[in-house]
Amino acid sequence: MARADVRRRVTRLRTEIRRHDRLYYERARPEVSDAEYDALVRELRALEARHPGLVTPESPTRRPGGRPARAFAPVAHRVAMLSLDNAASAAELREFGARVARALPGARLAWVGEPKIDGLGVALLYRRGRFVRGATRGDGRVGEDVTANLAALRAVPKALRGRLARVEDLEVRGEAFMPRAAFERLNRALEAAREPVFANPRNAAAGSVRQKDAAVTAGRPLDVFLYEISHAPGLALASHWAALGALRRAGFRTNPLNRRLADLAQVIAYCERLARGRDGLEYDADGAVVKVDRLALQRRLGSTSHHPRWAVALKFRARQATTVVEGIHVQVGKTGILTPVATLRPVHLAGVVISSVTLHNEDEIRRKDVRVGDTVLLARAGDVIPHVVEVVRARRPRGARPFRFPRRCPACGGRAVRPPGAASWVCTSGACPAQREERLRHFGSRRAMAIDGLGEATVAALVARGLVRDFAGLYHLGVGEVRRLPGFARKSAENLVGAIAASRHRGLARLLGAVGMPGVGEHVARLLAARFGTLERLARASRAELARVRGIGPVLARSVAGWLADRGNRRVLARLAAAGVATREPRAPARGPLAGKTVVLTGALAGLTREAAEALVRRAGGRVSGAVSRRTDYVVVGAAPGSTLDTARRLGVAELDARAFARLVGPA
Ligand code: IVH
Repeated sequence: MARADVRRRVTRLRTEIRRHDRLYYERARPEVSDAEYDALVRELRALEARHPGLVTPESPTRRPGGRPARAFAPVAHRVAMLSLDNAASAAELREFGARVARALPGARLAWVGEPKIDGLGVALLYRRGRFVRGATRGDGRVGEDVTANLAALRAVPKALRGRLARVEDLEVRGEAFMPRAAFERLNRALEAAREPVFANPRNAAAGSVRQKDAAVTAGRPLDVFLYEISHAPGLALASHWAALGALRRAGFRTNPLNRRLADLAQVIAYCERLARGRDGLEYDADGAVVKVDRLALQRRLGSTSHHPRWAVALKFRARQATTVVEGIHVQVGKTGILTPVATLRPVHLAGVVISSVTLHNEDEIRRKDVRVGDTVLLARAGDVIPHVVEVVRARRPRGARPFRFPRRCPACGGRAVRPPGAASWVCTSGACPAQREERLRHFGSRRAMAIDGLGEATVAALVARGLVRDFAGLYHLGVGEVRRLPGFARKSAENLVGAIAASRHRGLARLLGAVGMPGVGEHVARLLAARFGTLERLARASRAELARVRGIGPVLARSVAGWLADRGNRRVLARLAAAGVATREPRAPARGPLAGKTVVLTGALAGLTREAAEALVRRAGGRVSGAVSRRTDYVVVGAAPGSTLDTARRLGVAELDARAFARLVGPA
């Protein structure tokens, strides 16, 4: 490298490292992993070693420790806060146990198991029971002085009780963390205040402890579990388990899931139990820590420069990872909902390889501002499907453009709409192949055209063989074609074709509910049929006329008008009419025992399904309503009625029992 290039590179590395320091220490929003950060520092060190003339006293390499504090005064830990050695499996735990046993021939070993909380390590100093200083772990040798912030936490006692209160010079250590529920609440509040949210509880805890204003820390729901007495001259304790007891009696919190374990089999069972129960914990735990219980044995084992030899962490699988968005495409669900999906550079996460992730909907993409080319932080917790936590803005390639949601369905090219108030765009085409099966299945379902024998498998087979493309296609099926489908014989084929033919006369209300207009269920379909009477009249109705129908607002009116205006949909309706499907509503009997009456059903009526009972009410000229009000004329009371009956009695509505109802409406 030419000298000018080296100089440029050194300057650039220093700027980058300082920026990452700020992100890490002041904002608690690291953008790179520790390994990536270390690589930057290593490269800078190497360049400075080769070109000593470029070294300046301000260089990040000149400061003690790897990641020195910037916003807080540095604190040199009297006893280094070491890391933990890792075990990835039960086998590696056994190896750890064997290693310890070899180093301590003849010793009787017992263990302590603890959850490894994913927060930030803190060291608390007490003089004769008074809290005098709190520090973060930092790089293990030098941390940051966060006394004022930790003093603001309820979880840090200011005055100790019991034996520990009498220790002249006491240092204890533990993990500060934010419970998950509190983290979610904090993020919601930050979001409402339009401030950046935290990616996980760990960052939230770190960010809260490192606040410049202790009042802000005090308002953050942080907790601290203590896990070690690291310095207590004159205090005679035999075991780590006894130390945990002493901490508790002094007024600290220790993790209630800590256990004393007699042998390795118990250790392994404990770790497995914690791993399984991880999702049920109130906080994020990234592993289990196993420690030799007797302190004398811990001392004999000693430490490497990196970790104690008397402890190991069984790491659970990581649940967050970063990767690159290689594309964003839109999938059509069977109900026409358009869902954007990001294709990813494949990445390992919590035991599976992830190569795509749903982006849910247009607003979600906009909120997170996910763009093709972005590096994203993914999370996967338990059985939850993976999701994008956030975009790593610093790694956005130049020229990455915001995603624009397509206005056409990718499966059929049909018009896509986003109904007001809805989160998703939907394809409105009744002829969309992606929705064909689902639409046909709904068309034939009991509450729609009620075609017996047109089950899911049959629909799938009809579509797969290209025998049916739209609703009308059903009415052109011949017995010969149906017979060749799997599971059919002559008789069953005749039955299905007969059931399809019989469905021609269900009437307009059923037909409107069956063809799948967005927002039109059974109830709205009946309102439309009652008002317009025939499909021809409905198709001619203006948006304003539709909106005037009682129970149909302007939003629904627009959706219905839009659907009816679609060329593809009109064609399907015309084909249905041509196939002999009734497009008018048989007049509701103006007379009949329940003419003009509103009826509410509650409880089960022997021998009648809910739909059958409703049909009887309608046949008798009545209207079925879902809820009792003063305008209800009758409540029909079956077996095990719900609270509906109480309401009805309070309002003084007339009751009909099953027998009286049957007498009134006649045989089913
Ligand atoms: S013992 C010298 N116990 O894990 C060993 N550490 O990788 C001291 N941690 O920074 C650590 N829960 O902040 C220990 N029950 C636990 C822990 C725990 C979380 C953190 C600790 C440390 C890191 C070590």
